[in-house]
Amino acid sequence: MSSALPFTLKGKTLIVTGASSGIGRQCAISCALMGASIAVFGRDEGRLNDTLQSMDDPEKHMSCAIDLLEYDMVGDAVREVVRQKGRIDGLINCAGISTTLPLNSITTQRIEHFLRTNVIASMNITRHAVKSAHFSLTGGSVIFISSVMGVAGENGKTLYSLTKGALVAAVKSMAIELAPRKIRVNAISPGVVESPMSRSAVYSRDAASLNKIQSLHPLGLGKVDDVANACIFLLSDASAWITGINLIVDGGYLAK
Ligand SMILES: NC(=O)c1ccc[n+]([C@@H]2O[C@H](COP(=O)([O-])OP(=O)(O)OC[C@H]3O[C@@H](n4cnc5c(N)ncnc54)[C@H](OP(=O)(O)O)[C@@H]3O)[C@@H](O)[C@H]2O)c1
Repeated sequence: MSSALPFTLKGKTLIVTGASSGIGRQCAISCALMGASIAVFGRDEGRLNDTLQSMDDPEKHMSCAIDLLEYDMVGDAVREVVRQKGRIDGLINCAGISTTLPLNSITTQRIEHFLRTNVIASMNITRHAVKSAHFSLTGGSVIFISSVMGVAGENGKTLYSLTKGALVAAVKSMAIELAPRKIRVNAISPGVVESPMSRSAVYSRDAASLNKIQSLHPLGLGKVDDVANACIFLLSDASAWITGINLIVDGGYLAK
């Protein structure tokens, strides 16, 4: 059945991780504007509350302050969303960390920390969210925020790339496994987006480095809305026949 408003998120309940900052915060705000009810997940309760206060009707949404590395707590948090809001229609896995490090500084401890945060934590909440007792019986959409660094290389990006590439790879098998339940699974790979993460990156520390990174993006650096709008598309019925893809949102970074 085709919808008159295929891009609307009205009536959908979504979990957004990383919603206390940057891209995740904008995803939560933009999806709320499109009609969804949002459960915002992040560690910092005060900044999660700021996200809720940026929405038209904060009472319609809920907040969950949680460290996603506390794997055993995540199931309870997802069950609480289901208890308060009913079934889940979508999930944006946006929480993540980044770094620029030469190979000789990549210790096994650092590899573990990055894998735990960027890969295992996302897989863990996804596994809880898509349980048939939790997720909408008519299907829905799961998004993993990867990065162009998941498919391309730069100096010092090995550690970050290996975590983001893992998400792009995993999305395809998840998409196949969950297709019978009409749950679509996709990645979004942004180029450099202006956010607290990119503002604290090494390429933002001096004008020459910043100019260089800008010049690699033919349309200039991205805005958090650019990624949020792509999420709206992949969460909405407008993308009902799209699963297992990696949507590149990079201002032309990979076009070269
Ligand atoms: N900005 C870019 O240029 C860019 C480009 C490509 C991809 N990305 C990806 O986009 C995502 C968001 O990036 P951003 O720029 O918005 O970064 P950000 O402003 O630094 O936000 C990161 C978010 O992740 C949350 N987070 C980190 N570790 C967590 C943990 N253990 N448990 C729960 N939440 C955790 C943070 O929560 P608290 O603040 O509450 O601790 C925060 O909400 C990341 O996955 C990043 O890799 C960013």
